[in-house]
Amino acid sequence: MQTPFDLDNPAAYLRWRDHKLARAITDTNELIVEIKDPCALTKAEHAALLELCQRSNMVVYATHTELADENMVRQFGLQFGLNSLDANWLAGEQGITRVTVCADDGQRQAYIPYTDRAIKWHTDGYYNPCERQVRGMILHCAQSAGQGGENRLMDHEIAYLMLRDSNVDFIRALSAPDAMTIPERTDEQGVARAAQTGPVFSTDPASGTLHMRYTARTRSIEWKQDATTLAAVAALEQLLATDLPHILRTRLEPGMGLLCNNVLHDRAAFDDNDTAPRLLFRARYHDRIAAS
Ligand SMILES: [Fe+2]
Repeated sequence: MQTPFDLDNPAAYLRWRDHKLARAITDTNELIVEIKDPCALTKAEHAALLELCQRSNMVVYATHTELADENMVRQFGLQFGLNSLDANWLAGEQGITRVTVCADDGQRQAYIPYTDRAIKWHTDGYYNPCERQVRGMILHCAQSAGQGGENRLMDHEIAYLMLRDSNVDFIRALSAPDAMTIPERTDEQGVARAAQTGPVFSTDPASGTLHMRYTARTRSIEWKQDATTLAAVAALEQLLATDLPHILRTRLEPGMGLLCNNVLHDRAAFDDNDTAPRLLFRARYHDRIAAS
């Protein structure tokens, strides 16, 4: 399988690079598609959503429907071949998680998504074992915060491209199978999750598509202690700290959502209003968005 992400195939990379940059999205408004019924997309709506996912690995949809539940998210995802949910131990029965501030739940409160604090740049499930990588994701907003809670988004292929342009050795280092280790997590019962070591960038052998595991957090992560890896990590951090036009900013309002191939994203801190706390439905899938 020929892939532009093969370091030994610079010609394929350059062709892909030209095409990618020419079609890259640098204006958040271009990323938004209005749809009527997320459970039953029209052909035109589906095509518009898919086209943006193919260009930028993500799309923000906007619907006027007030209805939001796990089943709606599941139905929406199925239309893009998103089927294999990554059930985590905090998720509900269907493997779709309600992300909201859990002030009274000690177990959830220990995890930053269930607080009103900012979350640094990451891709979802970076701590998952390699056979359970999160390749697709939906984040559907049922209730936005009183203030804050914006997301920044960056197509991970653009991040790869910019790093590769600056130094191909950065890609080589971040593709090493021992580039990044997430230490084991323990709780009262012992080891709740084993340590996970793996690359930042990898390509799927069957499809040649690019996958990225990343977190900008500095605790609970161990980078390979070699000069090139550390320089690559610093370059990536620097890239994500710029205001590049390829870094898109959005605030999901009720009825809006993000459909993506697990692109890089962060979340700003927020304040809930008194009546209805911010509520997002999050579905993580082992599948990528289907090509058609
Ligand atoms: Fe996330």
